[in-house]
Amino acid sequence: MQQLDIRHMSFDEFDEKRDPRPEEQEFDRVVERALSRRGFLRGVLAFGSAATALGLSPLLNSGSAQAQTAAMTRFAFKPIPTATDFDVHVPEGYSWKPVAKWGQPLFSGIADLDPVNGTTAEAQEKAFGENTDGMELFNIGGRQVICVNHEYANLDTNLPGRPDGKPQSAEDVVLLQNAQGVAVFEIAESAEGWNVVLDSPMNRRITHRTAMELTGPAVGHDLLKTPADPDGKLVLGTLNNCGAGRTPWGTYLTCEENFNGYFGHSGALPAEGETEEQVKAKAEATAATLPKEFKRYGIGVDSVYMYHAFDPRFDLSQNANEPNRFGYIVEIDPSNPTAAPKKHTALGRFKHENAASVVARDGRVVVYMGDDERGEFLYKWVSRDAYVPGGDTSTLLVNGTLFVAKFSDDLNGEWLALTPESTGMTKAEIAIHTRMAASKLGATTMDRPEWVAVNPVAIEAYCALTNNSRRGVKPNAGGDETPVGGPNPRAENNYGQIVRWYPAEDDHAAATFTWDLFVMAGNPTVHKDAYAGSANINEGNMFNSPDGMMFDRNGLLWIQTDGDDSNEGDFAGQGNNQMLVGDPVTGRIERFLTGPKDSEITGFTVSSDRRTIFVGIQHPGGSWPETSGLPRSAVIAIRRDDGAIIA
Ligand code: FEO
Ligand code: CA
Ligand code: CA
Repeated sequence: MQQLDIRHMSFDEFDEKRDPRPEEQEFDRVVERALSRRGFLRGVLAFGSAATALGLSPLLNSGSAQAQTAAMTRFAFKPIPTATDFDVHVPEGYSWKPVAKWGQPLFSGIADLDPVNGTTAEAQEKAFGENTDGMELFNIGGRQVICVNHEYANLDTNLPGRPDGKPQSAEDVVLLQNAQGVAVFEIAESAEGWNVVLDSPMNRRITHRTAMELTGPAVGHDLLKTPADPDGKLVLGTLNNCGAGRTPWGTYLTCEENFNGYFGHSGALPAEGETEEQVKAKAEATAATLPKEFKRYGIGVDSVYMYHAFDPRFDLSQNANEPNRFGYIVEIDPSNPTAAPKKHTALGRFKHENAASVVARDGRVVVYMGDDERGEFLYKWVSRDAYVPGGDTSTLLVNGTLFVAKFSDDLNGEWLALTPESTGMTKAEIAIHTRMAASKLGATTMDRPEWVAVNPVAIEAYCALTNNSRRGVKPNAGGDETPVGGPNPRAENNYGQIVRWYPAEDDHAAATFTWDLFVMAGNPTVHKDAYAGSANINEGNMFNSPDGMMFDRNGLLWIQTDGDDSNEGDFAGQGNNQMLVGDPVTGRIERFLTGPKDSEITGFTVSSDRRTIFVGIQHPGGSWPETSGLPRSAVIAIRRDDGAIIA
């Protein structure tokens, strides 16, 4: 079944199916260059004197992290080995416990999830959602209030027993819509550990149906108008809430990533008695009627979640502009459960991973953001106005300039301003079709920018470039080449790397920067060339596909993975997805946590007393964390058994 295939695809596979770009003739040259570079890398391993020329950190020249003495470590834990089981593991002297699990009530009066039949649309609207992702904890008047993203749905898990695992009714679609979005709720610690405070006045669910306001240059633009919102300024819902961030003024930023997968065209739905060929021909003919701009964003006639079969808002035949209202940064005030979330169009429309904010030297607010798709870009927002604690913050994500990164092979880089002058597009068009604006400026096509993290104790920022199987092989969806080089130094990159940049004059608002690679992930037990990884990767700490990434207040970098957990072939010995800690000063990286098989580790935040860290386990396999029944994505609390500060 066509839909069955779609719903078991990764987002990358879905996008590839949507836009099967041919490997163009001119790309042969790129592949040739990649191969010769690979040979060069092989010849100079492990990042010897040629490392700097290759764009690799001088840090990586300084010798293997393995050789660093224990005295140099700033890690208070004994690193753990990889795992391949269906459980969570943390270092000796640490313990973990679930705090909130998919389907767990946030309000009284609804039942907990049934281990076999799941939950209902009504209960799900008042319960913790599915697939926990980015999160932030806020101290609001002494209450510990946590905001947690619920990125996407797993149809098999969330709709158990449905034929083909597909929604069968409008109510099934509402169930899925209520299982995603954001949960805001209070947690408290007792002798038994951390628990949800049921019925706290801070508790709130934001779903695919919650009303929110648009702000910024795209408000009222024709492309944002729909029959239900003829003024183009009010949207229902936030989709595919991936990574997160927090503003200096204490609000939560949730980031809309793979929003394209929610839209479809009812004209392409299979009809009774049609052959596979007829369905395919109908889909192609319908796809040809869609706006040409949809292609860059991967919006097509078939959807992963089948909302469009039951909810006209997601049916492109009735609401062609609805997809233009998603793909933004959304701001939520966790201190005011009745405030409408704000969708900030000025920060651009793309597959937003997370949003890392920092205050520049002159008080302006800088927000770094990645666009997670193969060959897309890294962005930076700089506000027009300065942040003044206690002052008006309402313009800081509305008025300002969006920039896109261009890296040079010589370890320099610049931020290119996306303006009407530089792009030939209006401000509204830049906000809505940001990818096209950035392409016009020749920004650097990246290896899938996932989370950005800003070091709180040094003027530097990091971006996890998770992997890119098409590096050096195919252009991005806009036709921009993806040459091997700069911060994307390996063709067909299946391991990923973390790039770091140092703003000029120690000012995050500066137009230029220098950069290096903090780490290239790899597998030194399988490869002896660049695919072995950088010098701070060894048999004991290796991993693939860095994704979630957050600094703690000590300036240590917590790195979470979302990669291949087959433990075979290129990934032999790397086990399940994991969380590691990196020291930006020494380059040392050690493993702190391993997740249950099939899961991704994503989301990290810290209690106000710094004695608990909260970590998200997304799409776990088996029945985790239960002993039987449906698996439940969950946020877990990790403490030291001696009660000491962790992060
Ligand atoms: Fe939702 Fe790019 O991760
Ligand atoms: Ca991610
Ligand atoms: Ca990922």
